[in-house]
Amino acid sequence: MDKILVTGGLGFIGSHTVVELQNEGYEVVIIDDLSNSSEKVLDGITAITGKTPIFEKLDLKEKDKVEAFFAKHNDIKGVIHFAASKAVGESVKEPLLYYENNISTLVYILKELKKLPAVGFIFSSSCTVYGQADELPITENAPVKQAESPYGNTKQIGEEIISDTCKVSPNLKAIALRYFNPVGAHESVEIGELPIGVPQNLVPFITQTGIGLRNELSVFGEDYPTPDGTCIRDYIHVVDLAKAHVIALGRLLQNKNKANYETFNLGTGKGSSVLEVVKSFEKVSGKKLNYKIVGRREGDIISAYADTNKANNELGWKTELSLDDAMSSAWKWEQKVRAAENN
Ligand SMILES: NC(=O)c1ccc[n+]([C@@H]2O[C@H](COP(=O)([O-])OP(=O)(O)OC[C@H]3O[C@@H](n4cnc5c(N)ncnc54)[C@H](O)[C@@H]3O)[C@@H](O)[C@H]2O)c1
Repeated sequence: MDKILVTGGLGFIGSHTVVELQNEGYEVVIIDDLSNSSEKVLDGITAITGKTPIFEKLDLKEKDKVEAFFAKHNDIKGVIHFAASKAVGESVKEPLLYYENNISTLVYILKELKKLPAVGFIFSSSCTVYGQADELPITENAPVKQAESPYGNTKQIGEEIISDTCKVSPNLKAIALRYFNPVGAHESVEIGELPIGVPQNLVPFITQTGIGLRNELSVFGEDYPTPDGTCIRDYIHVVDLAKAHVIALGRLLQNKNKANYETFNLGTGKGSSVLEVVKSFEKVSGKKLNYKIVGRREGDIISAYADTNKANNELGWKTELSLDDAMSSAWKWEQKVRAAENN
C-alpha cells in the first residue's frame, strides 16, 4: 500500500487521520517536532490500529532536515500537511513566528515534492479564509476575505502558494481542505485533543470547566442577531474530518480529481450556537456547566457554517456523527486525561 507522510501527525486532527489511514491499509510516516503534542500519542494510535506508524521527530523549519527526510523516503506517494501553529491570539502577538512556522515549512515541503515523480498533497486550511461570509451556508465560491489575524493569513497565503506551485508542477496534485470547527475525540478515547495551557477553543474549555480545572466558561455576547443571541459555528466531529482526508487523498492517488488544485469545505452544514453546545455537554455529561454571559469579544464572527454540497457530491463524503457524539467523546476523553494526571 502507498506510503503517506503525515506532518503534525501526533497532533489533534493528525493523530485521528493517521488512525483512519492505517485502518485503510496505508503505510504512514509521521513528522512532528512535538511542539504541541506528545510522543505518547503513538501509543494511542497503536492501541486503536494495532500498528505503530514510523515516526521521525523533526522540525520542518529546518530545511536541511526536510531535504534529508525526502532523500530517505523518496517513495512517498502522498503528503497530508497538518503541522502548523494555530493559536489565533498568539499569532497577533508573534506574527513572524506564525509566518515562519506555517509558511516556510510549507515551502520547504513543496520544494521537495517537486522532485518526486508523482505526489498528492492535502493541506489543512480553515473556514477562517471566508471571514464573516456575506451568505450562509458558505460555499467554496464565497470570496476569501481580508484575514483577521496572521494565523488566518497563513492559511490564505498557504493556499495561494500551493495553487501557484500546482500550475507549474504537473507531478503535483493538491487539495486544500477548509475545516470548520473540529471537536470530539476517538470513540476508544485512546486519542483526543490535548490543549497546552488555557484552551483557545470552546469545547476543551467546556470540558475543562466541567471537570473543575476552570472555574467558569465565559460566553462572549448574547446580543448577536442569532436565535439565542450567541455566536454560531459548524462543529464537526474529528473522526468525520479524519475520514474526509483519507477520501481526499484517494481522489488524488486514483486520479479522480478534476483540477490539479481543488478546495473543499469540511463541515456538517449545521450551525450550532455557543449555548446549544453548552446544552449538548450538559445532556451527555449529566452535569450543569458553570458559565456566565460577558460582553462581545473583538473580532468574533457572528455565524459561520458550511455548504457541504461540493464535499458530499464530489468527494462522496458526508458526516456521520452528531454534536452529542462529539461532546460525549470529548467529555470521556477529558475524564481519562485528568484521571491519568491524578494517578
Ligand atoms: N483545530 C482546529 O480548530 C483547526 C481548524 C482549522 C484548521 N486547522 C489546521 O489543522 C492543522 C492541524 O490542527 P490541530 O488542531 O491538529 O493542531 P495541533 O497543534 O494539535 O497539531 C499540529 C501538530 O504539528 C506539530 N508541529 C507544529 N509545528 C511543527 C514543525 N515546525 N515541525 C514539525 N511539527 C510541527 C505540533 O507538534 C502538533 O503535533 C493545523 O494546520 C491547523 O492550523 C485546525
